[in-house]
Amino acid sequence: MADPIRVAVTGAAGQIAYSMLFRLASGEIFGKDRPVELKLLEIPPAMKALEGVVMELHDCAFPTLTNVVATDNPEVAFDGVNWALLVGSRPRGPGMERADLIKVNGPIFVGQGKALNKAAKDVRILVVGNPCNTNCLIAMNNSEVPKDRFHAMMSLDQNRARSMLAAKAGVTLKQVTNVVIWGNHSNNQYPDFENARINGQPVPQVIKDQAWLQDTFVKDVQNRGAAVIKARGASSAASAANAALNVVTNLITPTPAGDWFSSAICSKGEYGVDKGLIFGYPLTSPGDATCRIVEGLSMSAWAKGKFDNVLNELRSERDVVKDLLG
Ligand code: NAD
Ligand code: LMR
Repeated sequence: MADPIRVAVTGAAGQIAYSMLFRLASGEIFGKDRPVELKLLEIPPAMKALEGVVMELHDCAFPTLTNVVATDNPEVAFDGVNWALLVGSRPRGPGMERADLIKVNGPIFVGQGKALNKAAKDVRILVVGNPCNTNCLIAMNNSEVPKDRFHAMMSLDQNRARSMLAAKAGVTLKQVTNVVIWGNHSNNQYPDFENARINGQPVPQVIKDQAWLQDTFVKDVQNRGAAVIKARGASSAASAANAALNVVTNLITPTPAGDWFSSAICSKGEYGVDKGLIFGYPLTSPGDATCRIVEGLSMSAWAKGKFDNVLNELRSERDVVKDLLG
């Protein structure tokens, strides 16, 4: 058997984790021959509930799951991990924006950023807890882990956009490729239909309804999280867990030639974004957990307006948390 892969999940007794842990443990993500050790972090009041989750993990008798650690200490949770999936934090309720969570959730990522120094040298970090781009910025700035290891989750938005485009065009999901969500996981994100493709053709050549693309599609993707909260009375959980696992898979599998995936990473100035912001970009990976930004995509003046708007939003969020940036 290969060496175990060690995966930390925070907020492990929460809704998203409940849809994520069993898939991580089952061999679905890292392979049926790769042992998995789970390191589960919670806050003290949730440790009892976490005990129940650990019992259920054992009760699945997954041959790949070789060890489970449950702790309320971030340093224990992150010690030696190859992946850290940072979910633990408060979800928003109806009528709130994700940015309204900054004051309550932001401070969590100061201590967790520092504790990530205990992780394995090859660690990759995905921040899911909202507002995830700015929480990721906080964690990254409080950590000695190299900046290129940090991601904030845009994959749920990418999945939503692909699914809506496929439904509108009457095609299968596989036929919709090259979807990038620029910027922030917020209601100002820009889901780029101009560079997206259906059967290899630019989406506007297939879906000729420009008003639907510019208005309905963009707004529906931007506001899908709020729509789920309104309908379900709680924020998305299974689809969020699925999207987080998609990020891991996207990084450990070579990206199909010509395609890309969406994730928010630390900008080095690409597309004119301020260096150091955690910005949603189109990425490719050779499958070794590294990634690179696809450069040179063009945008119409209309799209550039959307792009600048979300960039300004991330700048404002950075200003709000400036005291937490180490
Ligand atoms: P939840 O309330 O069901 O679970 C959150 C868990 O985190 C709770 O068990 C809580 O005890 C735990 N927690 C709180 N503070 C913690 C800390 N400091 N360390 C460890 N654990 C801690 O919420 P959920 O539905 O699982 O959502 C979690 C977060 O994910 C929310 O912020 C939500 O908004 C966000 N989210 C993000 C996306 C995305 O696309 N980025 C999608 C869905 C949800
Ligand atoms: C989502 O997009 O579903 C999550 O970010 C949860 C939320 O608050 O919308």
